[in-house]
Amino acid sequence: MNKIHFKEIDSTNTWLKENYRTLEDMTSVSARLQTAGRGRRGRSWESQEGNLYLSLLLKDEKYLRHVDAISTVSAYLILKVLEGYGIKDLGIKWPNDIYVKDEKICGILLESVSTDRLECLIIGIGLNVNQKEFSGDYRQKPVSMRMLTGRDTDLDQLEDDVCKALTEGLNQLNKGHDFHAQISRYDYLRDKDVYALIEDKKEAVHVLGNRPGYTLEVICKDLRKNLRSSEISFHL
Ligand code: BTN
Repeated sequence: MNKIHFKEIDSTNTWLKENYRTLEDMTSVSARLQTAGRGRRGRSWESQEGNLYLSLLLKDEKYLRHVDAISTVSAYLILKVLEGYGIKDLGIKWPNDIYVKDEKICGILLESVSTDRLECLIIGIGLNVNQKEFSGDYRQKPVSMRMLTGRDTDLDQLEDDVCKALTEGLNQLNKGHDFHAQISRYDYLRDKDVYALIEDKKEAVHVLGNRPGYTLEVICKDLRKNLRSSEISFHL
């Protein structure tokens, strides 16, 4: 993996979007501080010093053809790293938020660049590591590794561990490994009644759970639906 590091940047995802043409497949970009960190659905991502801000560029067709799997599989691979650091009660709020009980520890912004074809995918990871408290007004209550363990984590080591897990896991995916059974052990939304944004309409749904093919099965207006990650977003 080719690694680029900045002490400070606007956003590691934005930087990759602007520079992907000249970079090799599997280039990671990290920063210790972001001045314009971005979250999903156009929201901003608070990015003060102490947390992990990392984006990974995928350009090779062998990765791009797994576009529907990559979001959830990446969340699972990072979750396993967190388990290795002693974090318990982890879950994946499908497709790619990582929760500890009911608090969010990691968010992933998966972006793509397309011309007449899909050019690249960018997996942007915001992992709350050493932040001591969160004082803003958050839709989902955040939590950090530090708040859970009471100690600081070495960011360089954690970054290496996350990069290694993503490299190995995405290679397994390319070789045909199906992560469905592993991922469904961490199904945070299973059996929950939630609001979901389906094709831009807010709907009340009952979540049945993760299904093979990295989809989520829900009941919406008495009908069972299998949703792909690009089709839905959730409000708890
Ligand atoms: C979410 O809304 O849950 C996704 C948050 C993703 C934040 C990360 S931090 C590194 C990368 N650069 C960004 O600007 N965003 C992602």
